[in-house]
Amino acid sequence: MTDKGTQYEHQPVMLDEVLDMWFSRSDGFYVDGTFGRGGHSRALLEKLDAQGRLAGIDRDPQAVAAGEQLASEDSRFQIVASRFDCLPDVVDQVGRPIDGLLLDLGVSSPQLDDAGRGFSFLRDGPLDMRMDPTQGESVAQWLARADEQDIANVLYRYGDERKSRRIARRICEERNERPITRTLQLADLIESAIGRGEPGKHPATRSFQALRIHINGELDAL
Ligand SMILES: C[S@@+](CC[C@H](N)C(=O)[O-])C[C@H]1O[C@@H](n2cnc3c(N)ncnc32)[C@H](O)[C@@H]1O
Repeated sequence: MTDKGTQYEHQPVMLDEVLDMWFSRSDGFYVDGTFGRGGHSRALLEKLDAQGRLAGIDRDPQAVAAGEQLASEDSRFQIVASRFDCLPDVVDQVGRPIDGLLLDLGVSSPQLDDAGRGFSFLRDGPLDMRMDPTQGESVAQWLARADEQDIANVLYRYGDERKSRRIARRICEERNERPITRTLQLADLIESAIGRGEPGKHPATRSFQALRIHINGELDAL
């Protein structure tokens, strides 16, 4: 599927298995709480009849733009620009009980592939990682002000990073010298703190996951 907003692509994961669990009746009302680029939503719409309805929710403005495009093509679909904890409002508005809810949690391929979003430790970009860049603070802003202990706790809790203290110390040393503003700057300093580690896995993998979960309050939304 081609991403409408950018040149990036997203392949929906486990499509058949997801539809088996999510879909139950062709005239039902469904919610896709993590619309992304709508790979799962489009496949569900193919199974719905004219009475079926699908509401997509996403907090990412680029995902919402893709949802607006789909809504203009298919009147059974609507997109809501919000976090999925707005679900009760969506249900109230539609006035029907939900027949199936999908939450495909985490980061989308288009978010990872776009260096400008700051999610990737493989592509240089601003150290942001916000799914909704209009809300809250970026990872760069948080790392500039957080306590060393708080940084270590986030890396350990959300990334299972056993070398979290060493990384947090290195981050605090670096920010005393210069602001940490770029993804590759952070990835390189994590590597300098803990070495190469597991073969085939970048040493910044766990830390980037942890910072993403923290900065987006991903577990709070759940
Ligand atoms: C793994 S992708 C979903 C991909 C989607 N199933 C598809 O086929 O394109 C996760 C999406 O959920 C969104 N997201 C993450 N947390 C969210 C939240 N609390 N509320 C709404 N959207 C959220 C992200 O912005 C991202 O677009």
